[in-house]
Amino acid sequence: MTRQLHLNLFIQSRGHHEASWRHPESSALALTDIEYFRDLARRAEAGLFDSIFLADTLALMDTVAHAASTWLEPITTLAAIAGSTSRIGLIATASTTYSEPFNLARQFGSLDHISGGRVGWNIVTSWLAAAARNYGGESLVSHDERYERGEEFVQVVKALWDSWADDAVLDDRPSGHYARAERIQPIDHAGKYYRVSGPLNMPRGPQGRPVFVQAGSSDTGRRFAARHAEAVFTAQMEKKTAQDFYADLKGLAIAEGRRPEHVLILPGLSPVIASTEAEAQRLARELAELTDPEVGRKRLSGRFGGHDFSHLPLDRPLTPEDFPDPGSVQAARSRTEVIVGLVRRENYTLRQLLAYLAGARGHFTTAGTPEQIADLIEDWFNDGAADGFNLMPPLLPSMLDVFIAEVVPLLQKRGLFRSAYEGKTLRDHFQLPRPTVPI
Ligand SMILES: Cc1cc2nc3c(=O)[nH]c(=O)nc-3n(C[C@H](O)[C@H](O)[C@H](O)COP(=O)(O)O)c2cc1C
Repeated sequence: MTRQLHLNLFIQSRGHHEASWRHPESSALALTDIEYFRDLARRAEAGLFDSIFLADTLALMDTVAHAASTWLEPITTLAAIAGSTSRIGLIATASTTYSEPFNLARQFGSLDHISGGRVGWNIVTSWLAAAARNYGGESLVSHDERYERGEEFVQVVKALWDSWADDAVLDDRPSGHYARAERIQPIDHAGKYYRVSGPLNMPRGPQGRPVFVQAGSSDTGRRFAARHAEAVFTAQMEKKTAQDFYADLKGLAIAEGRRPEHVLILPGLSPVIASTEAEAQRLARELAELTDPEVGRKRLSGRFGGHDFSHLPLDRPLTPEDFPDPGSVQAARSRTEVIVGLVRRENYTLRQLLAYLAGARGHFTTAGTPEQIADLIEDWFNDGAADGFNLMPPLLPSMLDVFIAEVVPLLQKRGLFRSAYEGKTLRDHFQLPRPTVPI
């Protein structure tokens, strides 16, 4: 099978630039209007994207006064989108720290049936301290414990999805047999965090199991991804670190006995695109001028588990000593490594750092012409940095439209991207096998 570029649309706010929500070119629809999400999914489907993706946090951000960071619950939202699309994959985030495996297996199992096999689960352990306080905790569950719990959670969910054989349902009216009971097995799981008898109260979905997506890039996060993930979202700020990450994760997957092409690596890419480089730069500046550094300061604090940055002046060059050691951070550890690395390299002031992070929160941002963006995608794809991209348009829907109208045809002409959907399920689009059931 020829290797194909994969494109996922990450939908957030009215675009990934922090100020997108107030830019005159972004969507006029409310962020609680399902038509906003349906419309974007249909546009991405017309552009032949593999999938769309919704992130999630389990608390209201304390920046809400000046930043549009509210959102609909992703699983419910995807169910509504499933009904108005037919081919595009649908990926939702759900937490292993603050949900129960049986609930989650039912929800994503249902979505897989509802969508005809187009669903993926972005497995997160929830790094936000405020989320812990919404689930009875005083403070964040530690990084190690979150991943330990996540490991057991995934084991249980996999077993639940495999508890029905593919041929378990007969639905045979004349004989009166609905199911072959012997083809439906309990899981009898008794572990450190969960006790679940099973089986699931639902037949196996079209994909066998939803596609497993993962987005944590710390050492522990990478090992977790190597064992379970079939697609990995990651924030990389330059090609070199993306190549290192790619090689490391593929190597870890091989060490787990997996085939490297069954673990797709999709770095974030947030391009400002215009017909000339100067126009793209102008648009990028226009967005930057709409940002509020105090929103950025609070977001930075959240990434570092609530660390207080209020005393740091905006206009003095930063040093790594201005930040807690990323290894000690219990929150979004790999992203804090990205941020401290940036400070070390660029000698930024806090204002400059916040302006940079406002672009796409530490993901790769760039401004250029369609050709320049297509060149970059081709280069990363062919040079061991990516199997595709998690596209994070700075403005929605306008920058998605430009990407689909101007960049996708270039990728198709170069033989990198599909000209029509070949399969029906997300596993088909991602060229992933359907898992078999041992029973
Ligand atoms: C593209 C992308 C999307 C993410 N979406 C979410 C999300 O929706 N909810 C969440 O809690 N964490 C999200 N994360 C964060 C990671 O899942 C992970 O929790 C974080 O990076 C901390 O894990 P680590 O210490 O292993 O890196 C996302 C990360 C990336 C790269």
